[in-house]
Amino acid sequence: MKITKLSVLSISIVLAFSQLAAAAPVKDNHVSLVPRDYVLPPVIDSRTTVSGSVPVVDLTTEDTARSNNGPLPKDVELTNGIGVNATSGPSQVQALVAVSKSVSVASAAQVQDLKLFTQLSANAYCRIVVPLNQWTCDHCSADETLVSTFFTVLIDTNGFITRNDKTKTINLVFRGTNSFQNFFTDITLITQSYPPVKNARIHVGFYTAYLDVQKSVISTMIEQISKYPSYNVAVSGHSLGGALAVIATMDLYQRDTRFNSNNLFLRTYGQPRIGNPDLGYYLAGTGIEYKRTVNDRDMVPHLPPLSSDYMHVGTEHWKRDDGSVKICTNFESSGCSNSIVPFTTIVDHLS
Ligand SMILES: *[C@@H]1O[C@H](CO)[C@@H](O)[C@H](O)[C@H]1NC(C)=O
Repeated sequence: MKITKLSVLSISIVLAFSQLAAAAPVKDNHVSLVPRDYVLPPVIDSRTTVSGSVPVVDLTTEDTARSNNGPLPKDVELTNGIGVNATSGPSQVQALVAVSKSVSVASAAQVQDLKLFTQLSANAYCRIVVPLNQWTCDHCSADETLVSTFFTVLIDTNGFITRNDKTKTINLVFRGTNSFQNFFTDITLITQSYPPVKNARIHVGFYTAYLDVQKSVISTMIEQISKYPSYNVAVSGHSLGGALAVIATMDLYQRDTRFNSNNLFLRTYGQPRIGNPDLGYYLAGTGIEYKRTVNDRDMVPHLPPLSSDYMHVGTEHWKRDDGSVKICTNFESSGCSNSIVPFTTIVDHLS
């Protein structure tokens, strides 16, 4: 069934309002209520310029793969030049991955680290956590204390904040939309300026969704870091939630020096691209540890396309069907998931 963007949006709004309605009767809930007159701390100028040495990124790797891998079979549905439902990958890709020097295999400890955050991100889809504010889902670890949940009404997106007193970590987790296929098949490529950083541009939809929860997120995170100044701060999310995690991380970094490259950690799964190369180079220059996991042939990390002035940063962790995880340290590497373009599918976004 093909439905229009407008109807997706209105369905999302209805969903979002029904979630708010569902949340209202819960007593003793943790929904973060920001006073109407709450004023965000101003952006710190010195934290908005590109610092450190940033690598030069090859912006042609997807196009190169497209011409190497040849056209998709005729029965595959396309969006922005990539497959929505390709059922297998191009055979020549295996050889390409084998020779790439930028690829290494994740250790058991690295895989464990990814699992931990995958579970946290999965909890954001659990309706008992968001919007019902109860930490009782299957993957809800007893080590975590639910601090608050938050919603955006513009896109069906929301999330929560937990604190882990064992690992001394404050976790900020964003959830993606529930209507993946429609959302990503119809994704717009439109950017707007990203005011804190010169020449940086950001996806309008993702930025708008973030601004909708910004005050809840910033006020609660500042309250937590004030109470627990020695804790690490891990920001994570799946899909659209991953995009919001990146935006929130930059915002925390820019508004309070207690959030910095020593204690901020960013983990995203199936994250779409969020902005232009200037934005990417800025984020890379902050030195914040950023791991970006891609599940096999998931199409979403390839949207919007590299060729439309979008660029990923973050160390790609490419999870293959056989359970192995390949790590590519150079951004937009030809050795990880860009190598299989356009043989992508939405199916791998959901697992
Ligand atoms: C992909 O989706 C299109 C449109 O829905 C459908 O016609 C086609 O059969 C699908 N192809 C595969 C390989 O599943």
